Amino acid sequence: MSKIRATITGIGGFVPDCILDNEELSHMVDTSDEWIMQRVGIKERRILKEKGKATSDMGAMAVKELLEKTNTRPEKVDLLICATITADVPYPATGNIISYKTGLRNAFSYDVSAACSGFIFSLETARRFIESGKYKKVIVVGADMMSTITDYTDRKTCPLFGDGAGAVLLEPTTEDVGIFDSIMGVDGEGFQFLHCKAGGSLKPPTHETVNAREHFVYQEGQPVFKVAVSKMADISVEIMKRNNIQPEELAWLVPHQANMRIIEATARRMGIRKEQVMINIHNYGNTTAATVPLCLWDYEKKLKKGDNLILTAFGAGYTWGTIYLKWAYNGN
Ligand code: UT7
Repeated sequence: MSKIRATITGIGGFVPDCILDNEELSHMVDTSDEWIMQRVGIKERRILKEKGKATSDMGAMAVKELLEKTNTRPEKVDLLICATITADVPYPATGNIISYKTGLRNAFSYDVSAACSGFIFSLETARRFIESGKYKKVIVVGADMMSTITDYTDRKTCPLFGDGAGAVLLEPTTEDVGIFDSIMGVDGEGFQFLHCKAGGSLKPPTHETVNAREHFVYQEGQPVFKVAVSKMADISVEIMKRNNIQPEELAWLVPHQANMRIIEATARRMGIRKEQVMINIHNYGNTTAATVPLCLWDYEKKLKKGDNLILTAFGAGYTWGTIYLKWAYNGN
């Protein structure tokens, strides 16, 4: 019997309408379009501004589009995994709320917390459920409302982040497509350079933590940058090598969108051209768990059955992950 492989059979996405561009940001903090474009490559980002709306609403929009596009009845879905670091509430899981809002009444669901690698970690997990043979339809959502944990008085971090959500459907196949290989890793030493100082059991929320602005992203950019460049490149090159993929045989690199310079350095080390790289950082900024599925969403029309794709991310934790897959359908 041929091996059951998990394959992506559809993509949904959602970004809010409201745009925060570099011009507007330069009136909020001491920054400029020139600095942000040169050092990071972001032109604008989307912000969810509607009162009472949260991460699950963006996730639900992405899942609704996915169900519609793939002609999937909600009750047929077995499992939904949501990658996020900006859950609606500390509990229950945002995945449960998304399942409820989209009518997935036969699915179980939970959240995965792996920051910018969250979507890749979740995809690796979801893939194993499919490969087990028991689960036939698994949805992976990457959703983050970074505007709720971004300090708009801190010029070092506020240009970087945006809001959005992306979702994919995974199904079994015995064809020569789907997920073939992965490399995942973490290093807790990275905690010190990128984390949220308060709001958890270590430092529960108090007036003091709020006044000290400790509920926002804390990042020391340079050390994170150095490790991000080397890790994303190392794992992407390694997965190419061990699957015998020559640079010209790779259709697309789908990298986490944190900094254009990190993306370019990774592509250079892999020996691929810029035209082989999915890039939308200029439009959305860093949407954390949503960057990789939002790239697939934006580029879906260009994807062809049999295309070799490498998905790669690096983020807080530190966490990193890469997945090699063969695309299963023609995007147009
Ligand atoms: O997604 C999860 C993982 N995260 C990442 O991968 C992010 C990795 N890090 C980075 O992408 C970059 O380190 C940043 C984009 C965060 C920062 O870029 P950088 O080139 O490393 O800048 P820097 O922090 O070294 O700052 C250089 C200078 C400083 O001024 P001085 O001290 O040299 O006078 C900063 O104060 O740029 C200044 N600066 C700014 N100037 C204008 C920092 N932020 C800004 C700003 N506008 N927004």
